[in-house]
Amino acid sequence: MKIVLETESYTPAVDKLVADAFGPDRFAKTVYRLRDSVEHDTSLALVAIDKGEVVGTLRFWPIEIEGTPALLLGPLVTAPNWQGKGIGSRLMHAGLARAAAQGHRIVVLVGDEPYYRRFGFTRALARRLELPGWVDTDRFLARELVSGAMTGVMGMIGRPGEASVPALGKVRRAA
Ligand SMILES: CC(C)(COP(=O)(O)OP(=O)(O)OC[C@H]1O[C@@H](n2cnc3c(N)ncnc32)[C@H](O)[C@@H]1OP(=O)(O)O)[C@@H](O)C(=O)NCCC(=O)NCCS
Repeated sequence: MKIVLETESYTPAVDKLVADAFGPDRFAKTVYRLRDSVEHDTSLALVAIDKGEVVGTLRFWPIEIEGTPALLLGPLVTAPNWQGKGIGSRLMHAGLARAAAQGHRIVVLVGDEPYYRRFGFTRALARRLELPGWVDTDRFLARELVSGAMTGVMGMIGRPGEASVPALGKVRRAA
């Protein structure tokens, strides 16, 4: 099994892996609104390949937090038959290292804290951030790639070049 950059030939298999894992409801999630009309960062899109087959995927999307550039991590998926073999961890470590090497400083995600905390993601770092829609705050996590990168960073997350996503209406946040 190897981790490589996602090239176009892998994309149909990546799309299927994500669709199978999250179903059509995924498009209603707040994080998908941030991906609307925005291309993922192809220089950070990784796939896990075994004998030519895509068995894992990780992508990142560019975002801004009140003008501060950051990355939205996800989706991360390991094919069902391959879970528990360290593929997700390898994708995470490779993706985060690559993002740091490119000069990125902040990564946010919405996902299972019991899984992502092993990669340094915390709820505490996301507590002053807002998403343009409902989010379960227990699953809203952030990580600094550079120590102190989140200092003074707060407010609404938007698509690149937008302070927020105004078309999405009033901001709501889980209690
Ligand atoms: C979450 C996911 C990407 C993990 O990939 P993986 O290749 O199985 O992960 P790894 O093999 O690196 O790690 C497995 C470990 O993570 C744990 N783990 C897996 N999913 C977890 C979760 N949702 N919460 C907490 N721990 C989790 C496993 O119990 C295992 O623990 P161990 O190391 O103590 O045995 C994979 O289960 C998956 O694709 N799930 C469906 C899609 C999904 O939910 N993705 C986003 C997660 S929010």
